[in-house]
Amino acid sequence: MTTVDLPLLPLGRGRDLGSERGVDCPGDLPPASDPDLVARARAARDALGDRAFVLGHHYQRDEVIQFADVTGDSFKLAREAAARPDAEYIVFCGVHFMAESADILTGDHQQVVLPDLAAGCSMADMARLRQVEDAWDALGAAGVAESVVPVTYMNSSADIKAFCGRHDGVVCTSSNAKRALDWAFASKDGTAAPDAMPTKVLFLPDQHLGRNTAVLEMGFSLDDCVVWDPHRPGGGLTEQELRDARVILWKGHCSVHGRFSAEVGRELRRTLPGVQLLVHPECRHEVVLEADLVGSTEFIINTVRAAPPGSIWAIGTELNLVRRLAAEHPEQQITFLDKTVCYCSTMNRIDLPHLVWALESLVAGTVVNRISVDADTEHWARVALERMLALPGV
Ligand code: 13P
Ligand code: SF4
Repeated sequence: MTTVDLPLLPLGRGRDLGSERGVDCPGDLPPASDPDLVARARAARDALGDRAFVLGHHYQRDEVIQFADVTGDSFKLAREAAARPDAEYIVFCGVHFMAESADILTGDHQQVVLPDLAAGCSMADMARLRQVEDAWDALGAAGVAESVVPVTYMNSSADIKAFCGRHDGVVCTSSNAKRALDWAFASKDGTAAPDAMPTKVLFLPDQHLGRNTAVLEMGFSLDDCVVWDPHRPGGGLTEQELRDARVILWKGHCSVHGRFSAEVGRELRRTLPGVQLLVHPECRHEVVLEADLVGSTEFIINTVRAAPPGSIWAIGTELNLVRRLAAEHPEQQITFLDKTVCYCSTMNRIDLPHLVWALESLVAGTVVNRISVDADTEHWARVALERMLALPGV
């Protein structure tokens, strides 16, 4: 009998463009079972010295985060990258949009490396430039584009940030979304025609961060918000709905934070008296309504660090961070808000073999997996990012 050599991804061989084909990683990755990986990473890190700066997002695995020179949320990491003009190499242990932002905010003499190019973000992928340009044209046809300020969450590709830069918009992160929206709503003051309609915001690509910020922090009602679905003609909205809306939310979400439910929160309240629900604003509106505290990953960490012994938390954010907080704070009770284990699969793509490969390649004089944004996109994306960095109080 002849056996068939069936590849692991039989559809992913250049024929079916809709399937995941992975990203090539040229070069030899050390095996994950190599007992010397930690020592190899340390030796390569030491050999690079100040020539390299390693940034680690809070969702990275423990095995990787131990090599970060600085850890942070996406806002802090963008600032840290911008503040290291002397580092020749920025090794970004995070996801693709973060490495792009680091490339935009660093000098031309610096090179940004993402240890695994497959570390993308499903939310960022939900807003493609072509789709956003089509939406903008539809807003123009409805006679509202003049009144709209585009605001994109950091979790978006560089060309979406550039779109916002070109159209007098701004970038925000989960730690400054309210300030960015305040800026956006005020940005046409004094310049709009007296009979112009009130300023609106097009919020990309995370509908939940946009809704949670607009409704819970800025006093808008749910009826002031509409959702633009890029997969439906006209976004699934009538021109009148576009004219009446104050906040046009892009239909995107985080596949990790979208899992948390208010029901699990209520169940935990019943079983763990005194528990406080601490969640990220990428969670759905009903989860945030049920929560006691809401904020970015940096806010979540600082909240737990400042809490008294005996505090009980159910935390709604990525599991690597929750596990680490639980290990660092045995004096508190820290649980995960979901019933099932769920890591961010793309953040987890950065593992020790990829980090060792990237660092050892740099030691050998080869820059692998460089993230480089083209000059025009970089210019306009930087405009939007710098508007964010200049926001009052940021
Ligand atoms: P922050 O780092 O801004 O908290 O965002 C969380 C996240 O999902 C990053 O991908
Ligand atoms: Fe993207 Fe969500 Fe993963 Fe962050 S946690 S990288 S938003 S999929």
